[in-house]
Amino acid sequence: MKLTIVGGGGFRVPLVYGALLDRKERLGLDEVVLYDVDDSRQDRIGHVLDGLAAEKGVQLPFRTTTDLVDAVRDADFVFCAIRVGQLEGRVIDEDVPLGMGVLGQETTGPGGICFALRTIPVMTKLAETMAAHAPNGWLINFTNPAGMVTEATQRILGDKVVGICDSPSGMCRRVAAIMGRDPKALWFDYFGLNHLGWLKDVRDGTGAPLLEELLADDAALERFEEGRLFGGDWLRSLEMLPNEYLYYFYYAADTVNAIRGGGSRGSFLLQQQREFYARNGADAPAALADWRATRHDRERTYMAEARAAAGQEGEHDIEENSGYESEAMAVVDAIVNNTREVLILNTANRSALPFLDERAVVEVPCIVGRSGPVPVAVGEVPAHAASLISTMKDVERTTIDAALSGSEQLAIKALALHPLVPSVNTAREIFDGYRRRLPELAEAFAA
Ligand code: G6P
Ligand code: MN
Repeated sequence: MKLTIVGGGGFRVPLVYGALLDRKERLGLDEVVLYDVDDSRQDRIGHVLDGLAAEKGVQLPFRTTTDLVDAVRDADFVFCAIRVGQLEGRVIDEDVPLGMGVLGQETTGPGGICFALRTIPVMTKLAETMAAHAPNGWLINFTNPAGMVTEATQRILGDKVVGICDSPSGMCRRVAAIMGRDPKALWFDYFGLNHLGWLKDVRDGTGAPLLEELLADDAALERFEEGRLFGGDWLRSLEMLPNEYLYYFYYAADTVNAIRGGGSRGSFLLQQQREFYARNGADAPAALADWRATRHDRERTYMAEARAAAGQEGEHDIEENSGYESEAMAVVDAIVNNTREVLILNTANRSALPFLDERAVVEVPCIVGRSGPVPVAVGEVPAHAASLISTMKDVERTTIDAALSGSEQLAIKALALHPLVPSVNTAREIFDGYRRRLPELAEAFAA
């Protein structure tokens, strides 16, 4: 079995490789190939991987390449986690809208649109290369904005693209932990798009709905991320538990103020990772632990002021730590070993959400076996969620069309239709701001 990692020089590759080492036999892995446009970063990561293999005493040969065809040829699985424009690009994605008082975030809001505009052409090229040279391969996509990227690449590879995010499973694990239950023994009614999802209920073997009781329990809500983020009153109004990324919709103005006061996530990570690569990847486990530890900064930064003001500072007791690589492994394992496990993934809707068409990529529980993920029927959902999903699906598709056509008109339309952008004029200013600071974007969208 050949597995290729596109974005082989990426900061999180050691996590994935470490997980592959643990499952080498079970997956029948023979060859791992790392591909990256930046060979020097890839070399540094290569040293980290050598160290990991030595530490675990497992042999799993890998090689690096900068030739995309060589990398994907006859691959069974292609993992893709890339950041087109690198973290410098992310800082611009986030800063430009923030300068206009609009949310600046990697995947939600205008930042996600700008990120998608430069990422989709690159991902389309990867998908076309796979169609030509690895027609039976699975594309396991982590590249953000994962929902849009999955939908764009599915236009070429169909159902052979699976989009992954660790936030839904992370939330389900936190909810199970709070309930003192084994997550495997529960059914999670989760639905939505990537970074735009809700848990509408949780059921156990008796079929009893369990979410209402959790939402009624303020003390329990205080003990995990989503409970603290949204607050009991709002959760009881919604009667659902939203994905953490919905914080940006429900508390948009508060987030903008907090980020403007405290600095963007992009600039924090840029600093952290510059140091990591400058030190040749030395101390990778410590650096990765550090990255993980700051993941909850989303909450700490944005909620800190509000919580402190209310005198409610507290500690998390429920954290969860290995989402990223375990999700990827679970998908590959389910396909290779036909386990029919239930995983929350990004895949074509079929009719899981009845108000969307068949090809719309959605994030819902799927049964996963040899032939890939099959989404379960979610059925009706509250009107508020259905309408936000429909609006955002239209924004996503307008963005994909803009990225593929280089049409300024479509790019501005996507920005203007986004619920977090308050005016068409703001959308125009944001697009101009991006174009001024990103020469590649200016070129791609030259009139
Ligand atoms: C979550 C999201 C991912 C995102 C990751 C890292 O896991 O689901 O899509 O890439 O956080 O966020 P960061 O801000 O650390 O880059
Ligand atoms: Mn994600």
